[in-house]
Amino acid sequence: MGYRREIYRAALRLPGLRSVVRRLRDSPRIVDEFISGDAGAIYGLRPRDKLRLVEQFDRVNSRIQSGTYTALQLVLAREILSIPREKEGDVVECGCWKGASSASLSLVCQIVKRRLIVCDSFEGLPDDGMNLHVGLHFGVYGYYRKGMFEGRLEEVQQNISTYGEIRVCEFIKGFFSDTLRQLSRPIVCGFLDVDLVPSTYDCLRYIWPLLVDGGAVYTDDAGDLACVRPFFNDAWWKQHLGCDAPGYIGSGCGLPLNSQYSSLGYARKVMSPGSVRLRRASHLYYPEEKQEEYMLPGRVQT
Ligand SMILES: C[S@@+](CC[C@H](N)C(=O)[O-])C[C@H]1O[C@@H](n2cnc3c(N)ncnc32)[C@H](O)[C@@H]1O
Repeated sequence: MGYRREIYRAALRLPGLRSVVRRLRDSPRIVDEFISGDAGAIYGLRPRDKLRLVEQFDRVNSRIQSGTYTALQLVLAREILSIPREKEGDVVECGCWKGASSASLSLVCQIVKRRLIVCDSFEGLPDDGMNLHVGLHFGVYGYYRKGMFEGRLEEVQQNISTYGEIRVCEFIKGFFSDTLRQLSRPIVCGFLDVDLVPSTYDCLRYIWPLLVDGGAVYTDDAGDLACVRPFFNDAWWKQHLGCDAPGYIGSGCGLPLNSQYSSLGYARKVMSPGSVRLRRASHLYYPEEKQEEYMLPGRVQT
């Protein structure tokens, strides 16, 4: 196995091969679907505009030290590009490290003319008290240390200025428990890449009430069940937000971005039935149709 990693590392040192290797790792299906699908159609994006965006994301992730990657950022882009213009609200990112995901998101926010609010301590993770983190599906375990993933505010701003679109960004500096209460405008999409359970709760507590009906909060911590559990903690949601826990799509293994799935998942706020588009399924019952016989799962009706 070791020699394969060496070949991969060597390939990454060659500029030409670098993008090919990254693209292979980065789920070509996601890239293809993004470029050739209807993402961004409501903003007039053509396939060549989307190809340019993919190339910009690739550039971001090869030049800025990044905890995320192009395919993952494309899923976020697809979400933001699907939000109708008339729906008012900002995009909020919590946890930016050196600003790689922020730079990519800023390019999308520039297209859809929304503000990107970048929230971070800009001094790395807070203390996590030696809590064990387990990614069962990915077969990994370990700990986070105070100060990990530090990116100074000036460094992040410089990176976004160089590779993204700084003019759409606002920055909120400090630990979430102190700072996020200052958020006050509607939010159409949240992206949390915060690694820790208390940080996840802090973000949900201040972001969820501002999230518009049909909006989503994505996280990059889907593989760590401890960080997913807050989305199912009904008692906490009832106490702090006065509603049921929303659950989490991708719990434990993430969305299928590649053969191992991924660390990306999300929760969607659904307050009214019309806020998300759903299809009827052949195996379900619809009382208004007075069906005599319903189709059993497996007998797929077309
Ligand atoms: C894994 S990094 C983010 C990676 C980044 N999204 C990327 O694409 O490279 C986690 C970030 O979360 C921030 N963070 C975690 N908990 C925090 C808290 N309670 N308050 C402020 N920042 C926090 C850290 O400072 C760090 O920048």
